[in-house]
Amino acid sequence: MSKDAEYHTTSQGTSHEERFRGKRILITGGLGFIGSNLAHRLANLGARVLIVDSLIPQYGGNLFNVAGIEDQVQINIADVRDRSSMDYLVQGQDYLFNLAGQVSHLDSMKDPFTDLEINCRSQLSILESCRYNNPDIKVVFASTRQIYGVPDYLPVDERHLVHPTDVNGINKMAGEWYHIVYNNVYGVRAASLRLTNTYGPRMRVCDARQTFLGLWIRLAVQGKELLVYGDGRQVRDLNYVDDVIDALLCIAVDDQANGQVYNLGGDEPINLWRLAQLMIEIAGKGFCRLVPWPEQRKRIDIGDYYGDYRKIHSKLGWRPRISLEEGLRRTLQYYEQYGQHYWEEGPEAEPRAGYPQDLESCQEDSRQLEAGKDHATDHPPG
Ligand SMILES: NC(=O)c1ccc[n+]([C@@H]2O[C@H](COP(=O)([O-])OP(=O)(O)OC[C@H]3O[C@@H](n4cnc5c(N)ncnc54)[C@H](O)[C@@H]3O)[C@@H](O)[C@H]2O)c1
Repeated sequence: MSKDAEYHTTSQGTSHEERFRGKRILITGGLGFIGSNLAHRLANLGARVLIVDSLIPQYGGNLFNVAGIEDQVQINIADVRDRSSMDYLVQGQDYLFNLAGQVSHLDSMKDPFTDLEINCRSQLSILESCRYNNPDIKVVFASTRQIYGVPDYLPVDERHLVHPTDVNGINKMAGEWYHIVYNNVYGVRAASLRLTNTYGPRMRVCDARQTFLGLWIRLAVQGKELLVYGDGRQVRDLNYVDDVIDALLCIAVDDQANGQVYNLGGDEPINLWRLAQLMIEIAGKGFCRLVPWPEQRKRIDIGDYYGDYRKIHSKLGWRPRISLEEGLRRTLQYYEQYGQHYWEEGPEAEPRAGYPQDLESCQEDSRQLEAGKDHATDHPPG
């Protein structure tokens, strides 16, 4: 059992989980947020887990994410862009959870070709590796609600048109459809899960490069100020990571999922101002303030979003189990305890810039951190 087992829930059904005992599982992106939570679950179920992760600096991979299961999983530091590595690594595997990705929307606009390479071209290449080296493997792909763009209606179901607002959304859409085509044409069983905002232990929280949620969690734990863009009325749905792991596992074991795409979604859509307040209430520290939208983020923002997850519920029985309040409580507790593994401590700790294009988003994050500094010891509003 991992040392932070208290942060894990039991899953919805134990019966399908029995099916992973002794199975060989490849997780791309397994040192990242969702991949490492999946690795913990599967290792504890007795699966033979092989993690492939490039640990590209500034992405979500973190070796601490596998603390407690280091001896139960194999880790291969490799890049999914490398076809020959993947040709070898897919061999003999029963399941592939394909989670490696460039996940920053802003970065996809600043450096579109890296996003194209990882989120689009590599997906095709991984599927070719499977086709030629292990056509019996079952592949589950982590797609995103970002492919829908600005919703035409709410809640968004799988029949909604896809019209992404950014390069990341376009490449993820293509990555998803390669999986469906390889299922339909070559019989490499594959399915795709369109995730909405996922949060929980082991997510990258050092800055807002991937998601504002991460930075808010860090700021709440540090008792600082959370900046909310615009009027704060934008609505989002969220899933706690253990619920997402349940969905990935449901899809993996059920062959009626082959060739299908499924939305996830949360039961408690919430506006961002209220979400920030809820985090502060649960953390018992921090505070929040409305600020104007940074232009670069506004241009690719999708407005209000919440997903319709009736398809996966009716076909596979999935639904979210962890309430927002409970999920946030567990998440904040995790970072209270292990935060030092996710950000550098001390007043000088600033978001890290990896390459010149990062500077703009880091400056924006710095504004948030800077704003928090002055008030770090204030009490939360009543
Ligand atoms: N977290 C969310 O809210 C969310 C929402 C929608 C979709 N998704 C999708 O779920 C997947 C996992 O997301 P996450 O939140 O765990 O992100 P993450 O950044 O924490 O994990 C991604 C992992 O992929 C690895 N990686 C990136 N490029 C790689 C490459 N070229 N070769 C090998 N490894 C590489 C990174 O090092 C990282 O460990 C992604 O594909 C993402 O698009 C996540």
